[in-house]
Amino acid sequence: MMKKWVCNVCGYIHEGEQPPDVCPVCGVGPEEFRLLEDKPEKPTSAKSAKRWKCTVCDYIHVGDAPPDVCPLCGVGKEYFVLLSDEIASLTRESLANSNAATVRSALDTISYGLYIVSSIKDNKINGQCANTVAQLTIEPCRIAVCLNKRNLTHEYVMASGVLAISVLREDQIDMVRHFGFQSGRTKDKFTEIPYLTGRLGCPILQDCVAYIEAKVLPDKTVDVGTHTLFVADVIAGQVASKLAPLTYRFYQEQKNKAK
Ligand SMILES: Cc1cc2nc3c(=O)[nH]c(=O)nc-3n(C[C@H](O)[C@H](O)[C@H](O)COP(=O)(O)O)c2cc1C
Repeated sequence: MMKKWVCNVCGYIHEGEQPPDVCPVCGVGPEEFRLLEDKPEKPTSAKSAKRWKCTVCDYIHVGDAPPDVCPLCGVGKEYFVLLSDEIASLTRESLANSNAATVRSALDTISYGLYIVSSIKDNKINGQCANTVAQLTIEPCRIAVCLNKRNLTHEYVMASGVLAISVLREDQIDMVRHFGFQSGRTKDKFTEIPYLTGRLGCPILQDCVAYIEAKVLPDKTVDVGTHTLFVADVIAGQVASKLAPLTYRFYQEQKNKAK
């Protein structure tokens, strides 16, 4: 009779002599599969075992306690949070359990889009990936963008007081890597990317869901430590495509699938 293997993480059942190399549902390796015996399941089955999530890389560990070290990203057990399928609402007791890892998980539930923020300085152009873009008010039409002071884009926005936002499509994760994993200090990021020059002189990705151009309001812009929160008034913008915009969550899910 063909052996049956169950995935400890998602419960997927595989039939074969060996467990699969990769779970087709949740992507974990063969070490997360256990052989299903014909005898009744022990209480330590996937259904009753606790599930712990690494808040840094989303790795799921099944067991009574979190692992000492995350096998994927190497952080310690203090970064793991217990995933509870049963508790759907908070209790007074659960409020007492907040720690650094639970805060991190809570922050991860805040929704973001992903954008290319671009600017100019002395006729030079540059852009970076950013998730911290938000509309603040409708009238006047005002946005905020939070940029790290170390970034070249920050230097350009500070100098020129203008910026453009290109809203990425779901299929543009390569743009996140191109603009988010390297600095304009070491590479001219726009050489191989088709772009148009907007009214304020900032480059706008030709391929995008929408663009927005804005002028920074220096008196409303705030130094927030490592970053500057630029507050800017929108002077132009248009939708280019009806395709779905890229969200931070979707990007992270694709990244985890590729692991
Ligand atoms: C998914 C993602 C989101 C990011 N969000 C921001 C952000 O909101 N603010 C920021 O300053 N940097 C953010 N970054 C980092 C910058 O994109 C990165 O440091 C970039 O290389 C800076 O480029 P520059 O030096 O050419 O300006 C993000 C990177 C990624 C991959």
